[in-house]
Amino acid sequence: MTSYDEVFENNRKWVQEHTGRDPNFFSRLATGQDPDLLFIGCADSRVPPNEIMGLEPGDVFVHRNVANLVVSTDINAQSVIEYAVGHLGVKHVVVCGHYGCGGVAAAMQPADLGLLNGWLREIRDVYRLYQGELDAIEDPDMRYRRLVELNIQEQCVNVIKTAVVQKQYLRTGHPIVHGWVYDIANGLLRDLEIPFGDILAEIREIYRLEEG
Ligand code: CO
Repeated sequence: MTSYDEVFENNRKWVQEHTGRDPNFFSRLATGQDPDLLFIGCADSRVPPNEIMGLEPGDVFVHRNVANLVVSTDINAQSVIEYAVGHLGVKHVVVCGHYGCGGVAAAMQPADLGLLNGWLREIRDVYRLYQGELDAIEDPDMRYRRLVELNIQEQCVNVIKTAVVQKQYLRTGHPIVHGWVYDIANGLLRDLEIPFGDILAEIREIYRLEEG
């Protein structure tokens, strides 16, 4: 772990590395942003978005919270989606969860966690939706890993439920919504290949919001 005092020294080195390669790096960024990607991930310290994707400042708009949830009453996440999709016009929205997620593990425990109860109930709701599939998995670790994946998929569904995503997609063909899982044990990202088109078509039967 880095000590608190090291970060400013690290920052100066980081600035020098970038300006050494490209003297206009920061002045160009100061003129505006045009990222292709919105990344919605877990706040976990082991899942740093830019690093795991090899991306630079300006490449990705990021929202993170405990267990990468997209909740309709969360004005923070909803504002991020509205701005990134409606104003920045990102081409892709990624919900990226990870194995080893403490939030998903906590949602599988029968414990009162105070303020976290309401937040983690979103994950219990995912479990309830897939209870048959999950309860049929005997190995507790495999069941947990599957819930991590299903939570990612359901948060993608929550992204697709938003008016801004439906309207923008029908108008421009973007954004495409993707679900990825990151494995903190080996550093690899995997695309869960959720069926975006099928989900959108199914969602629009009940949640269609593109008019007006
Ligand atoms: Co996590």
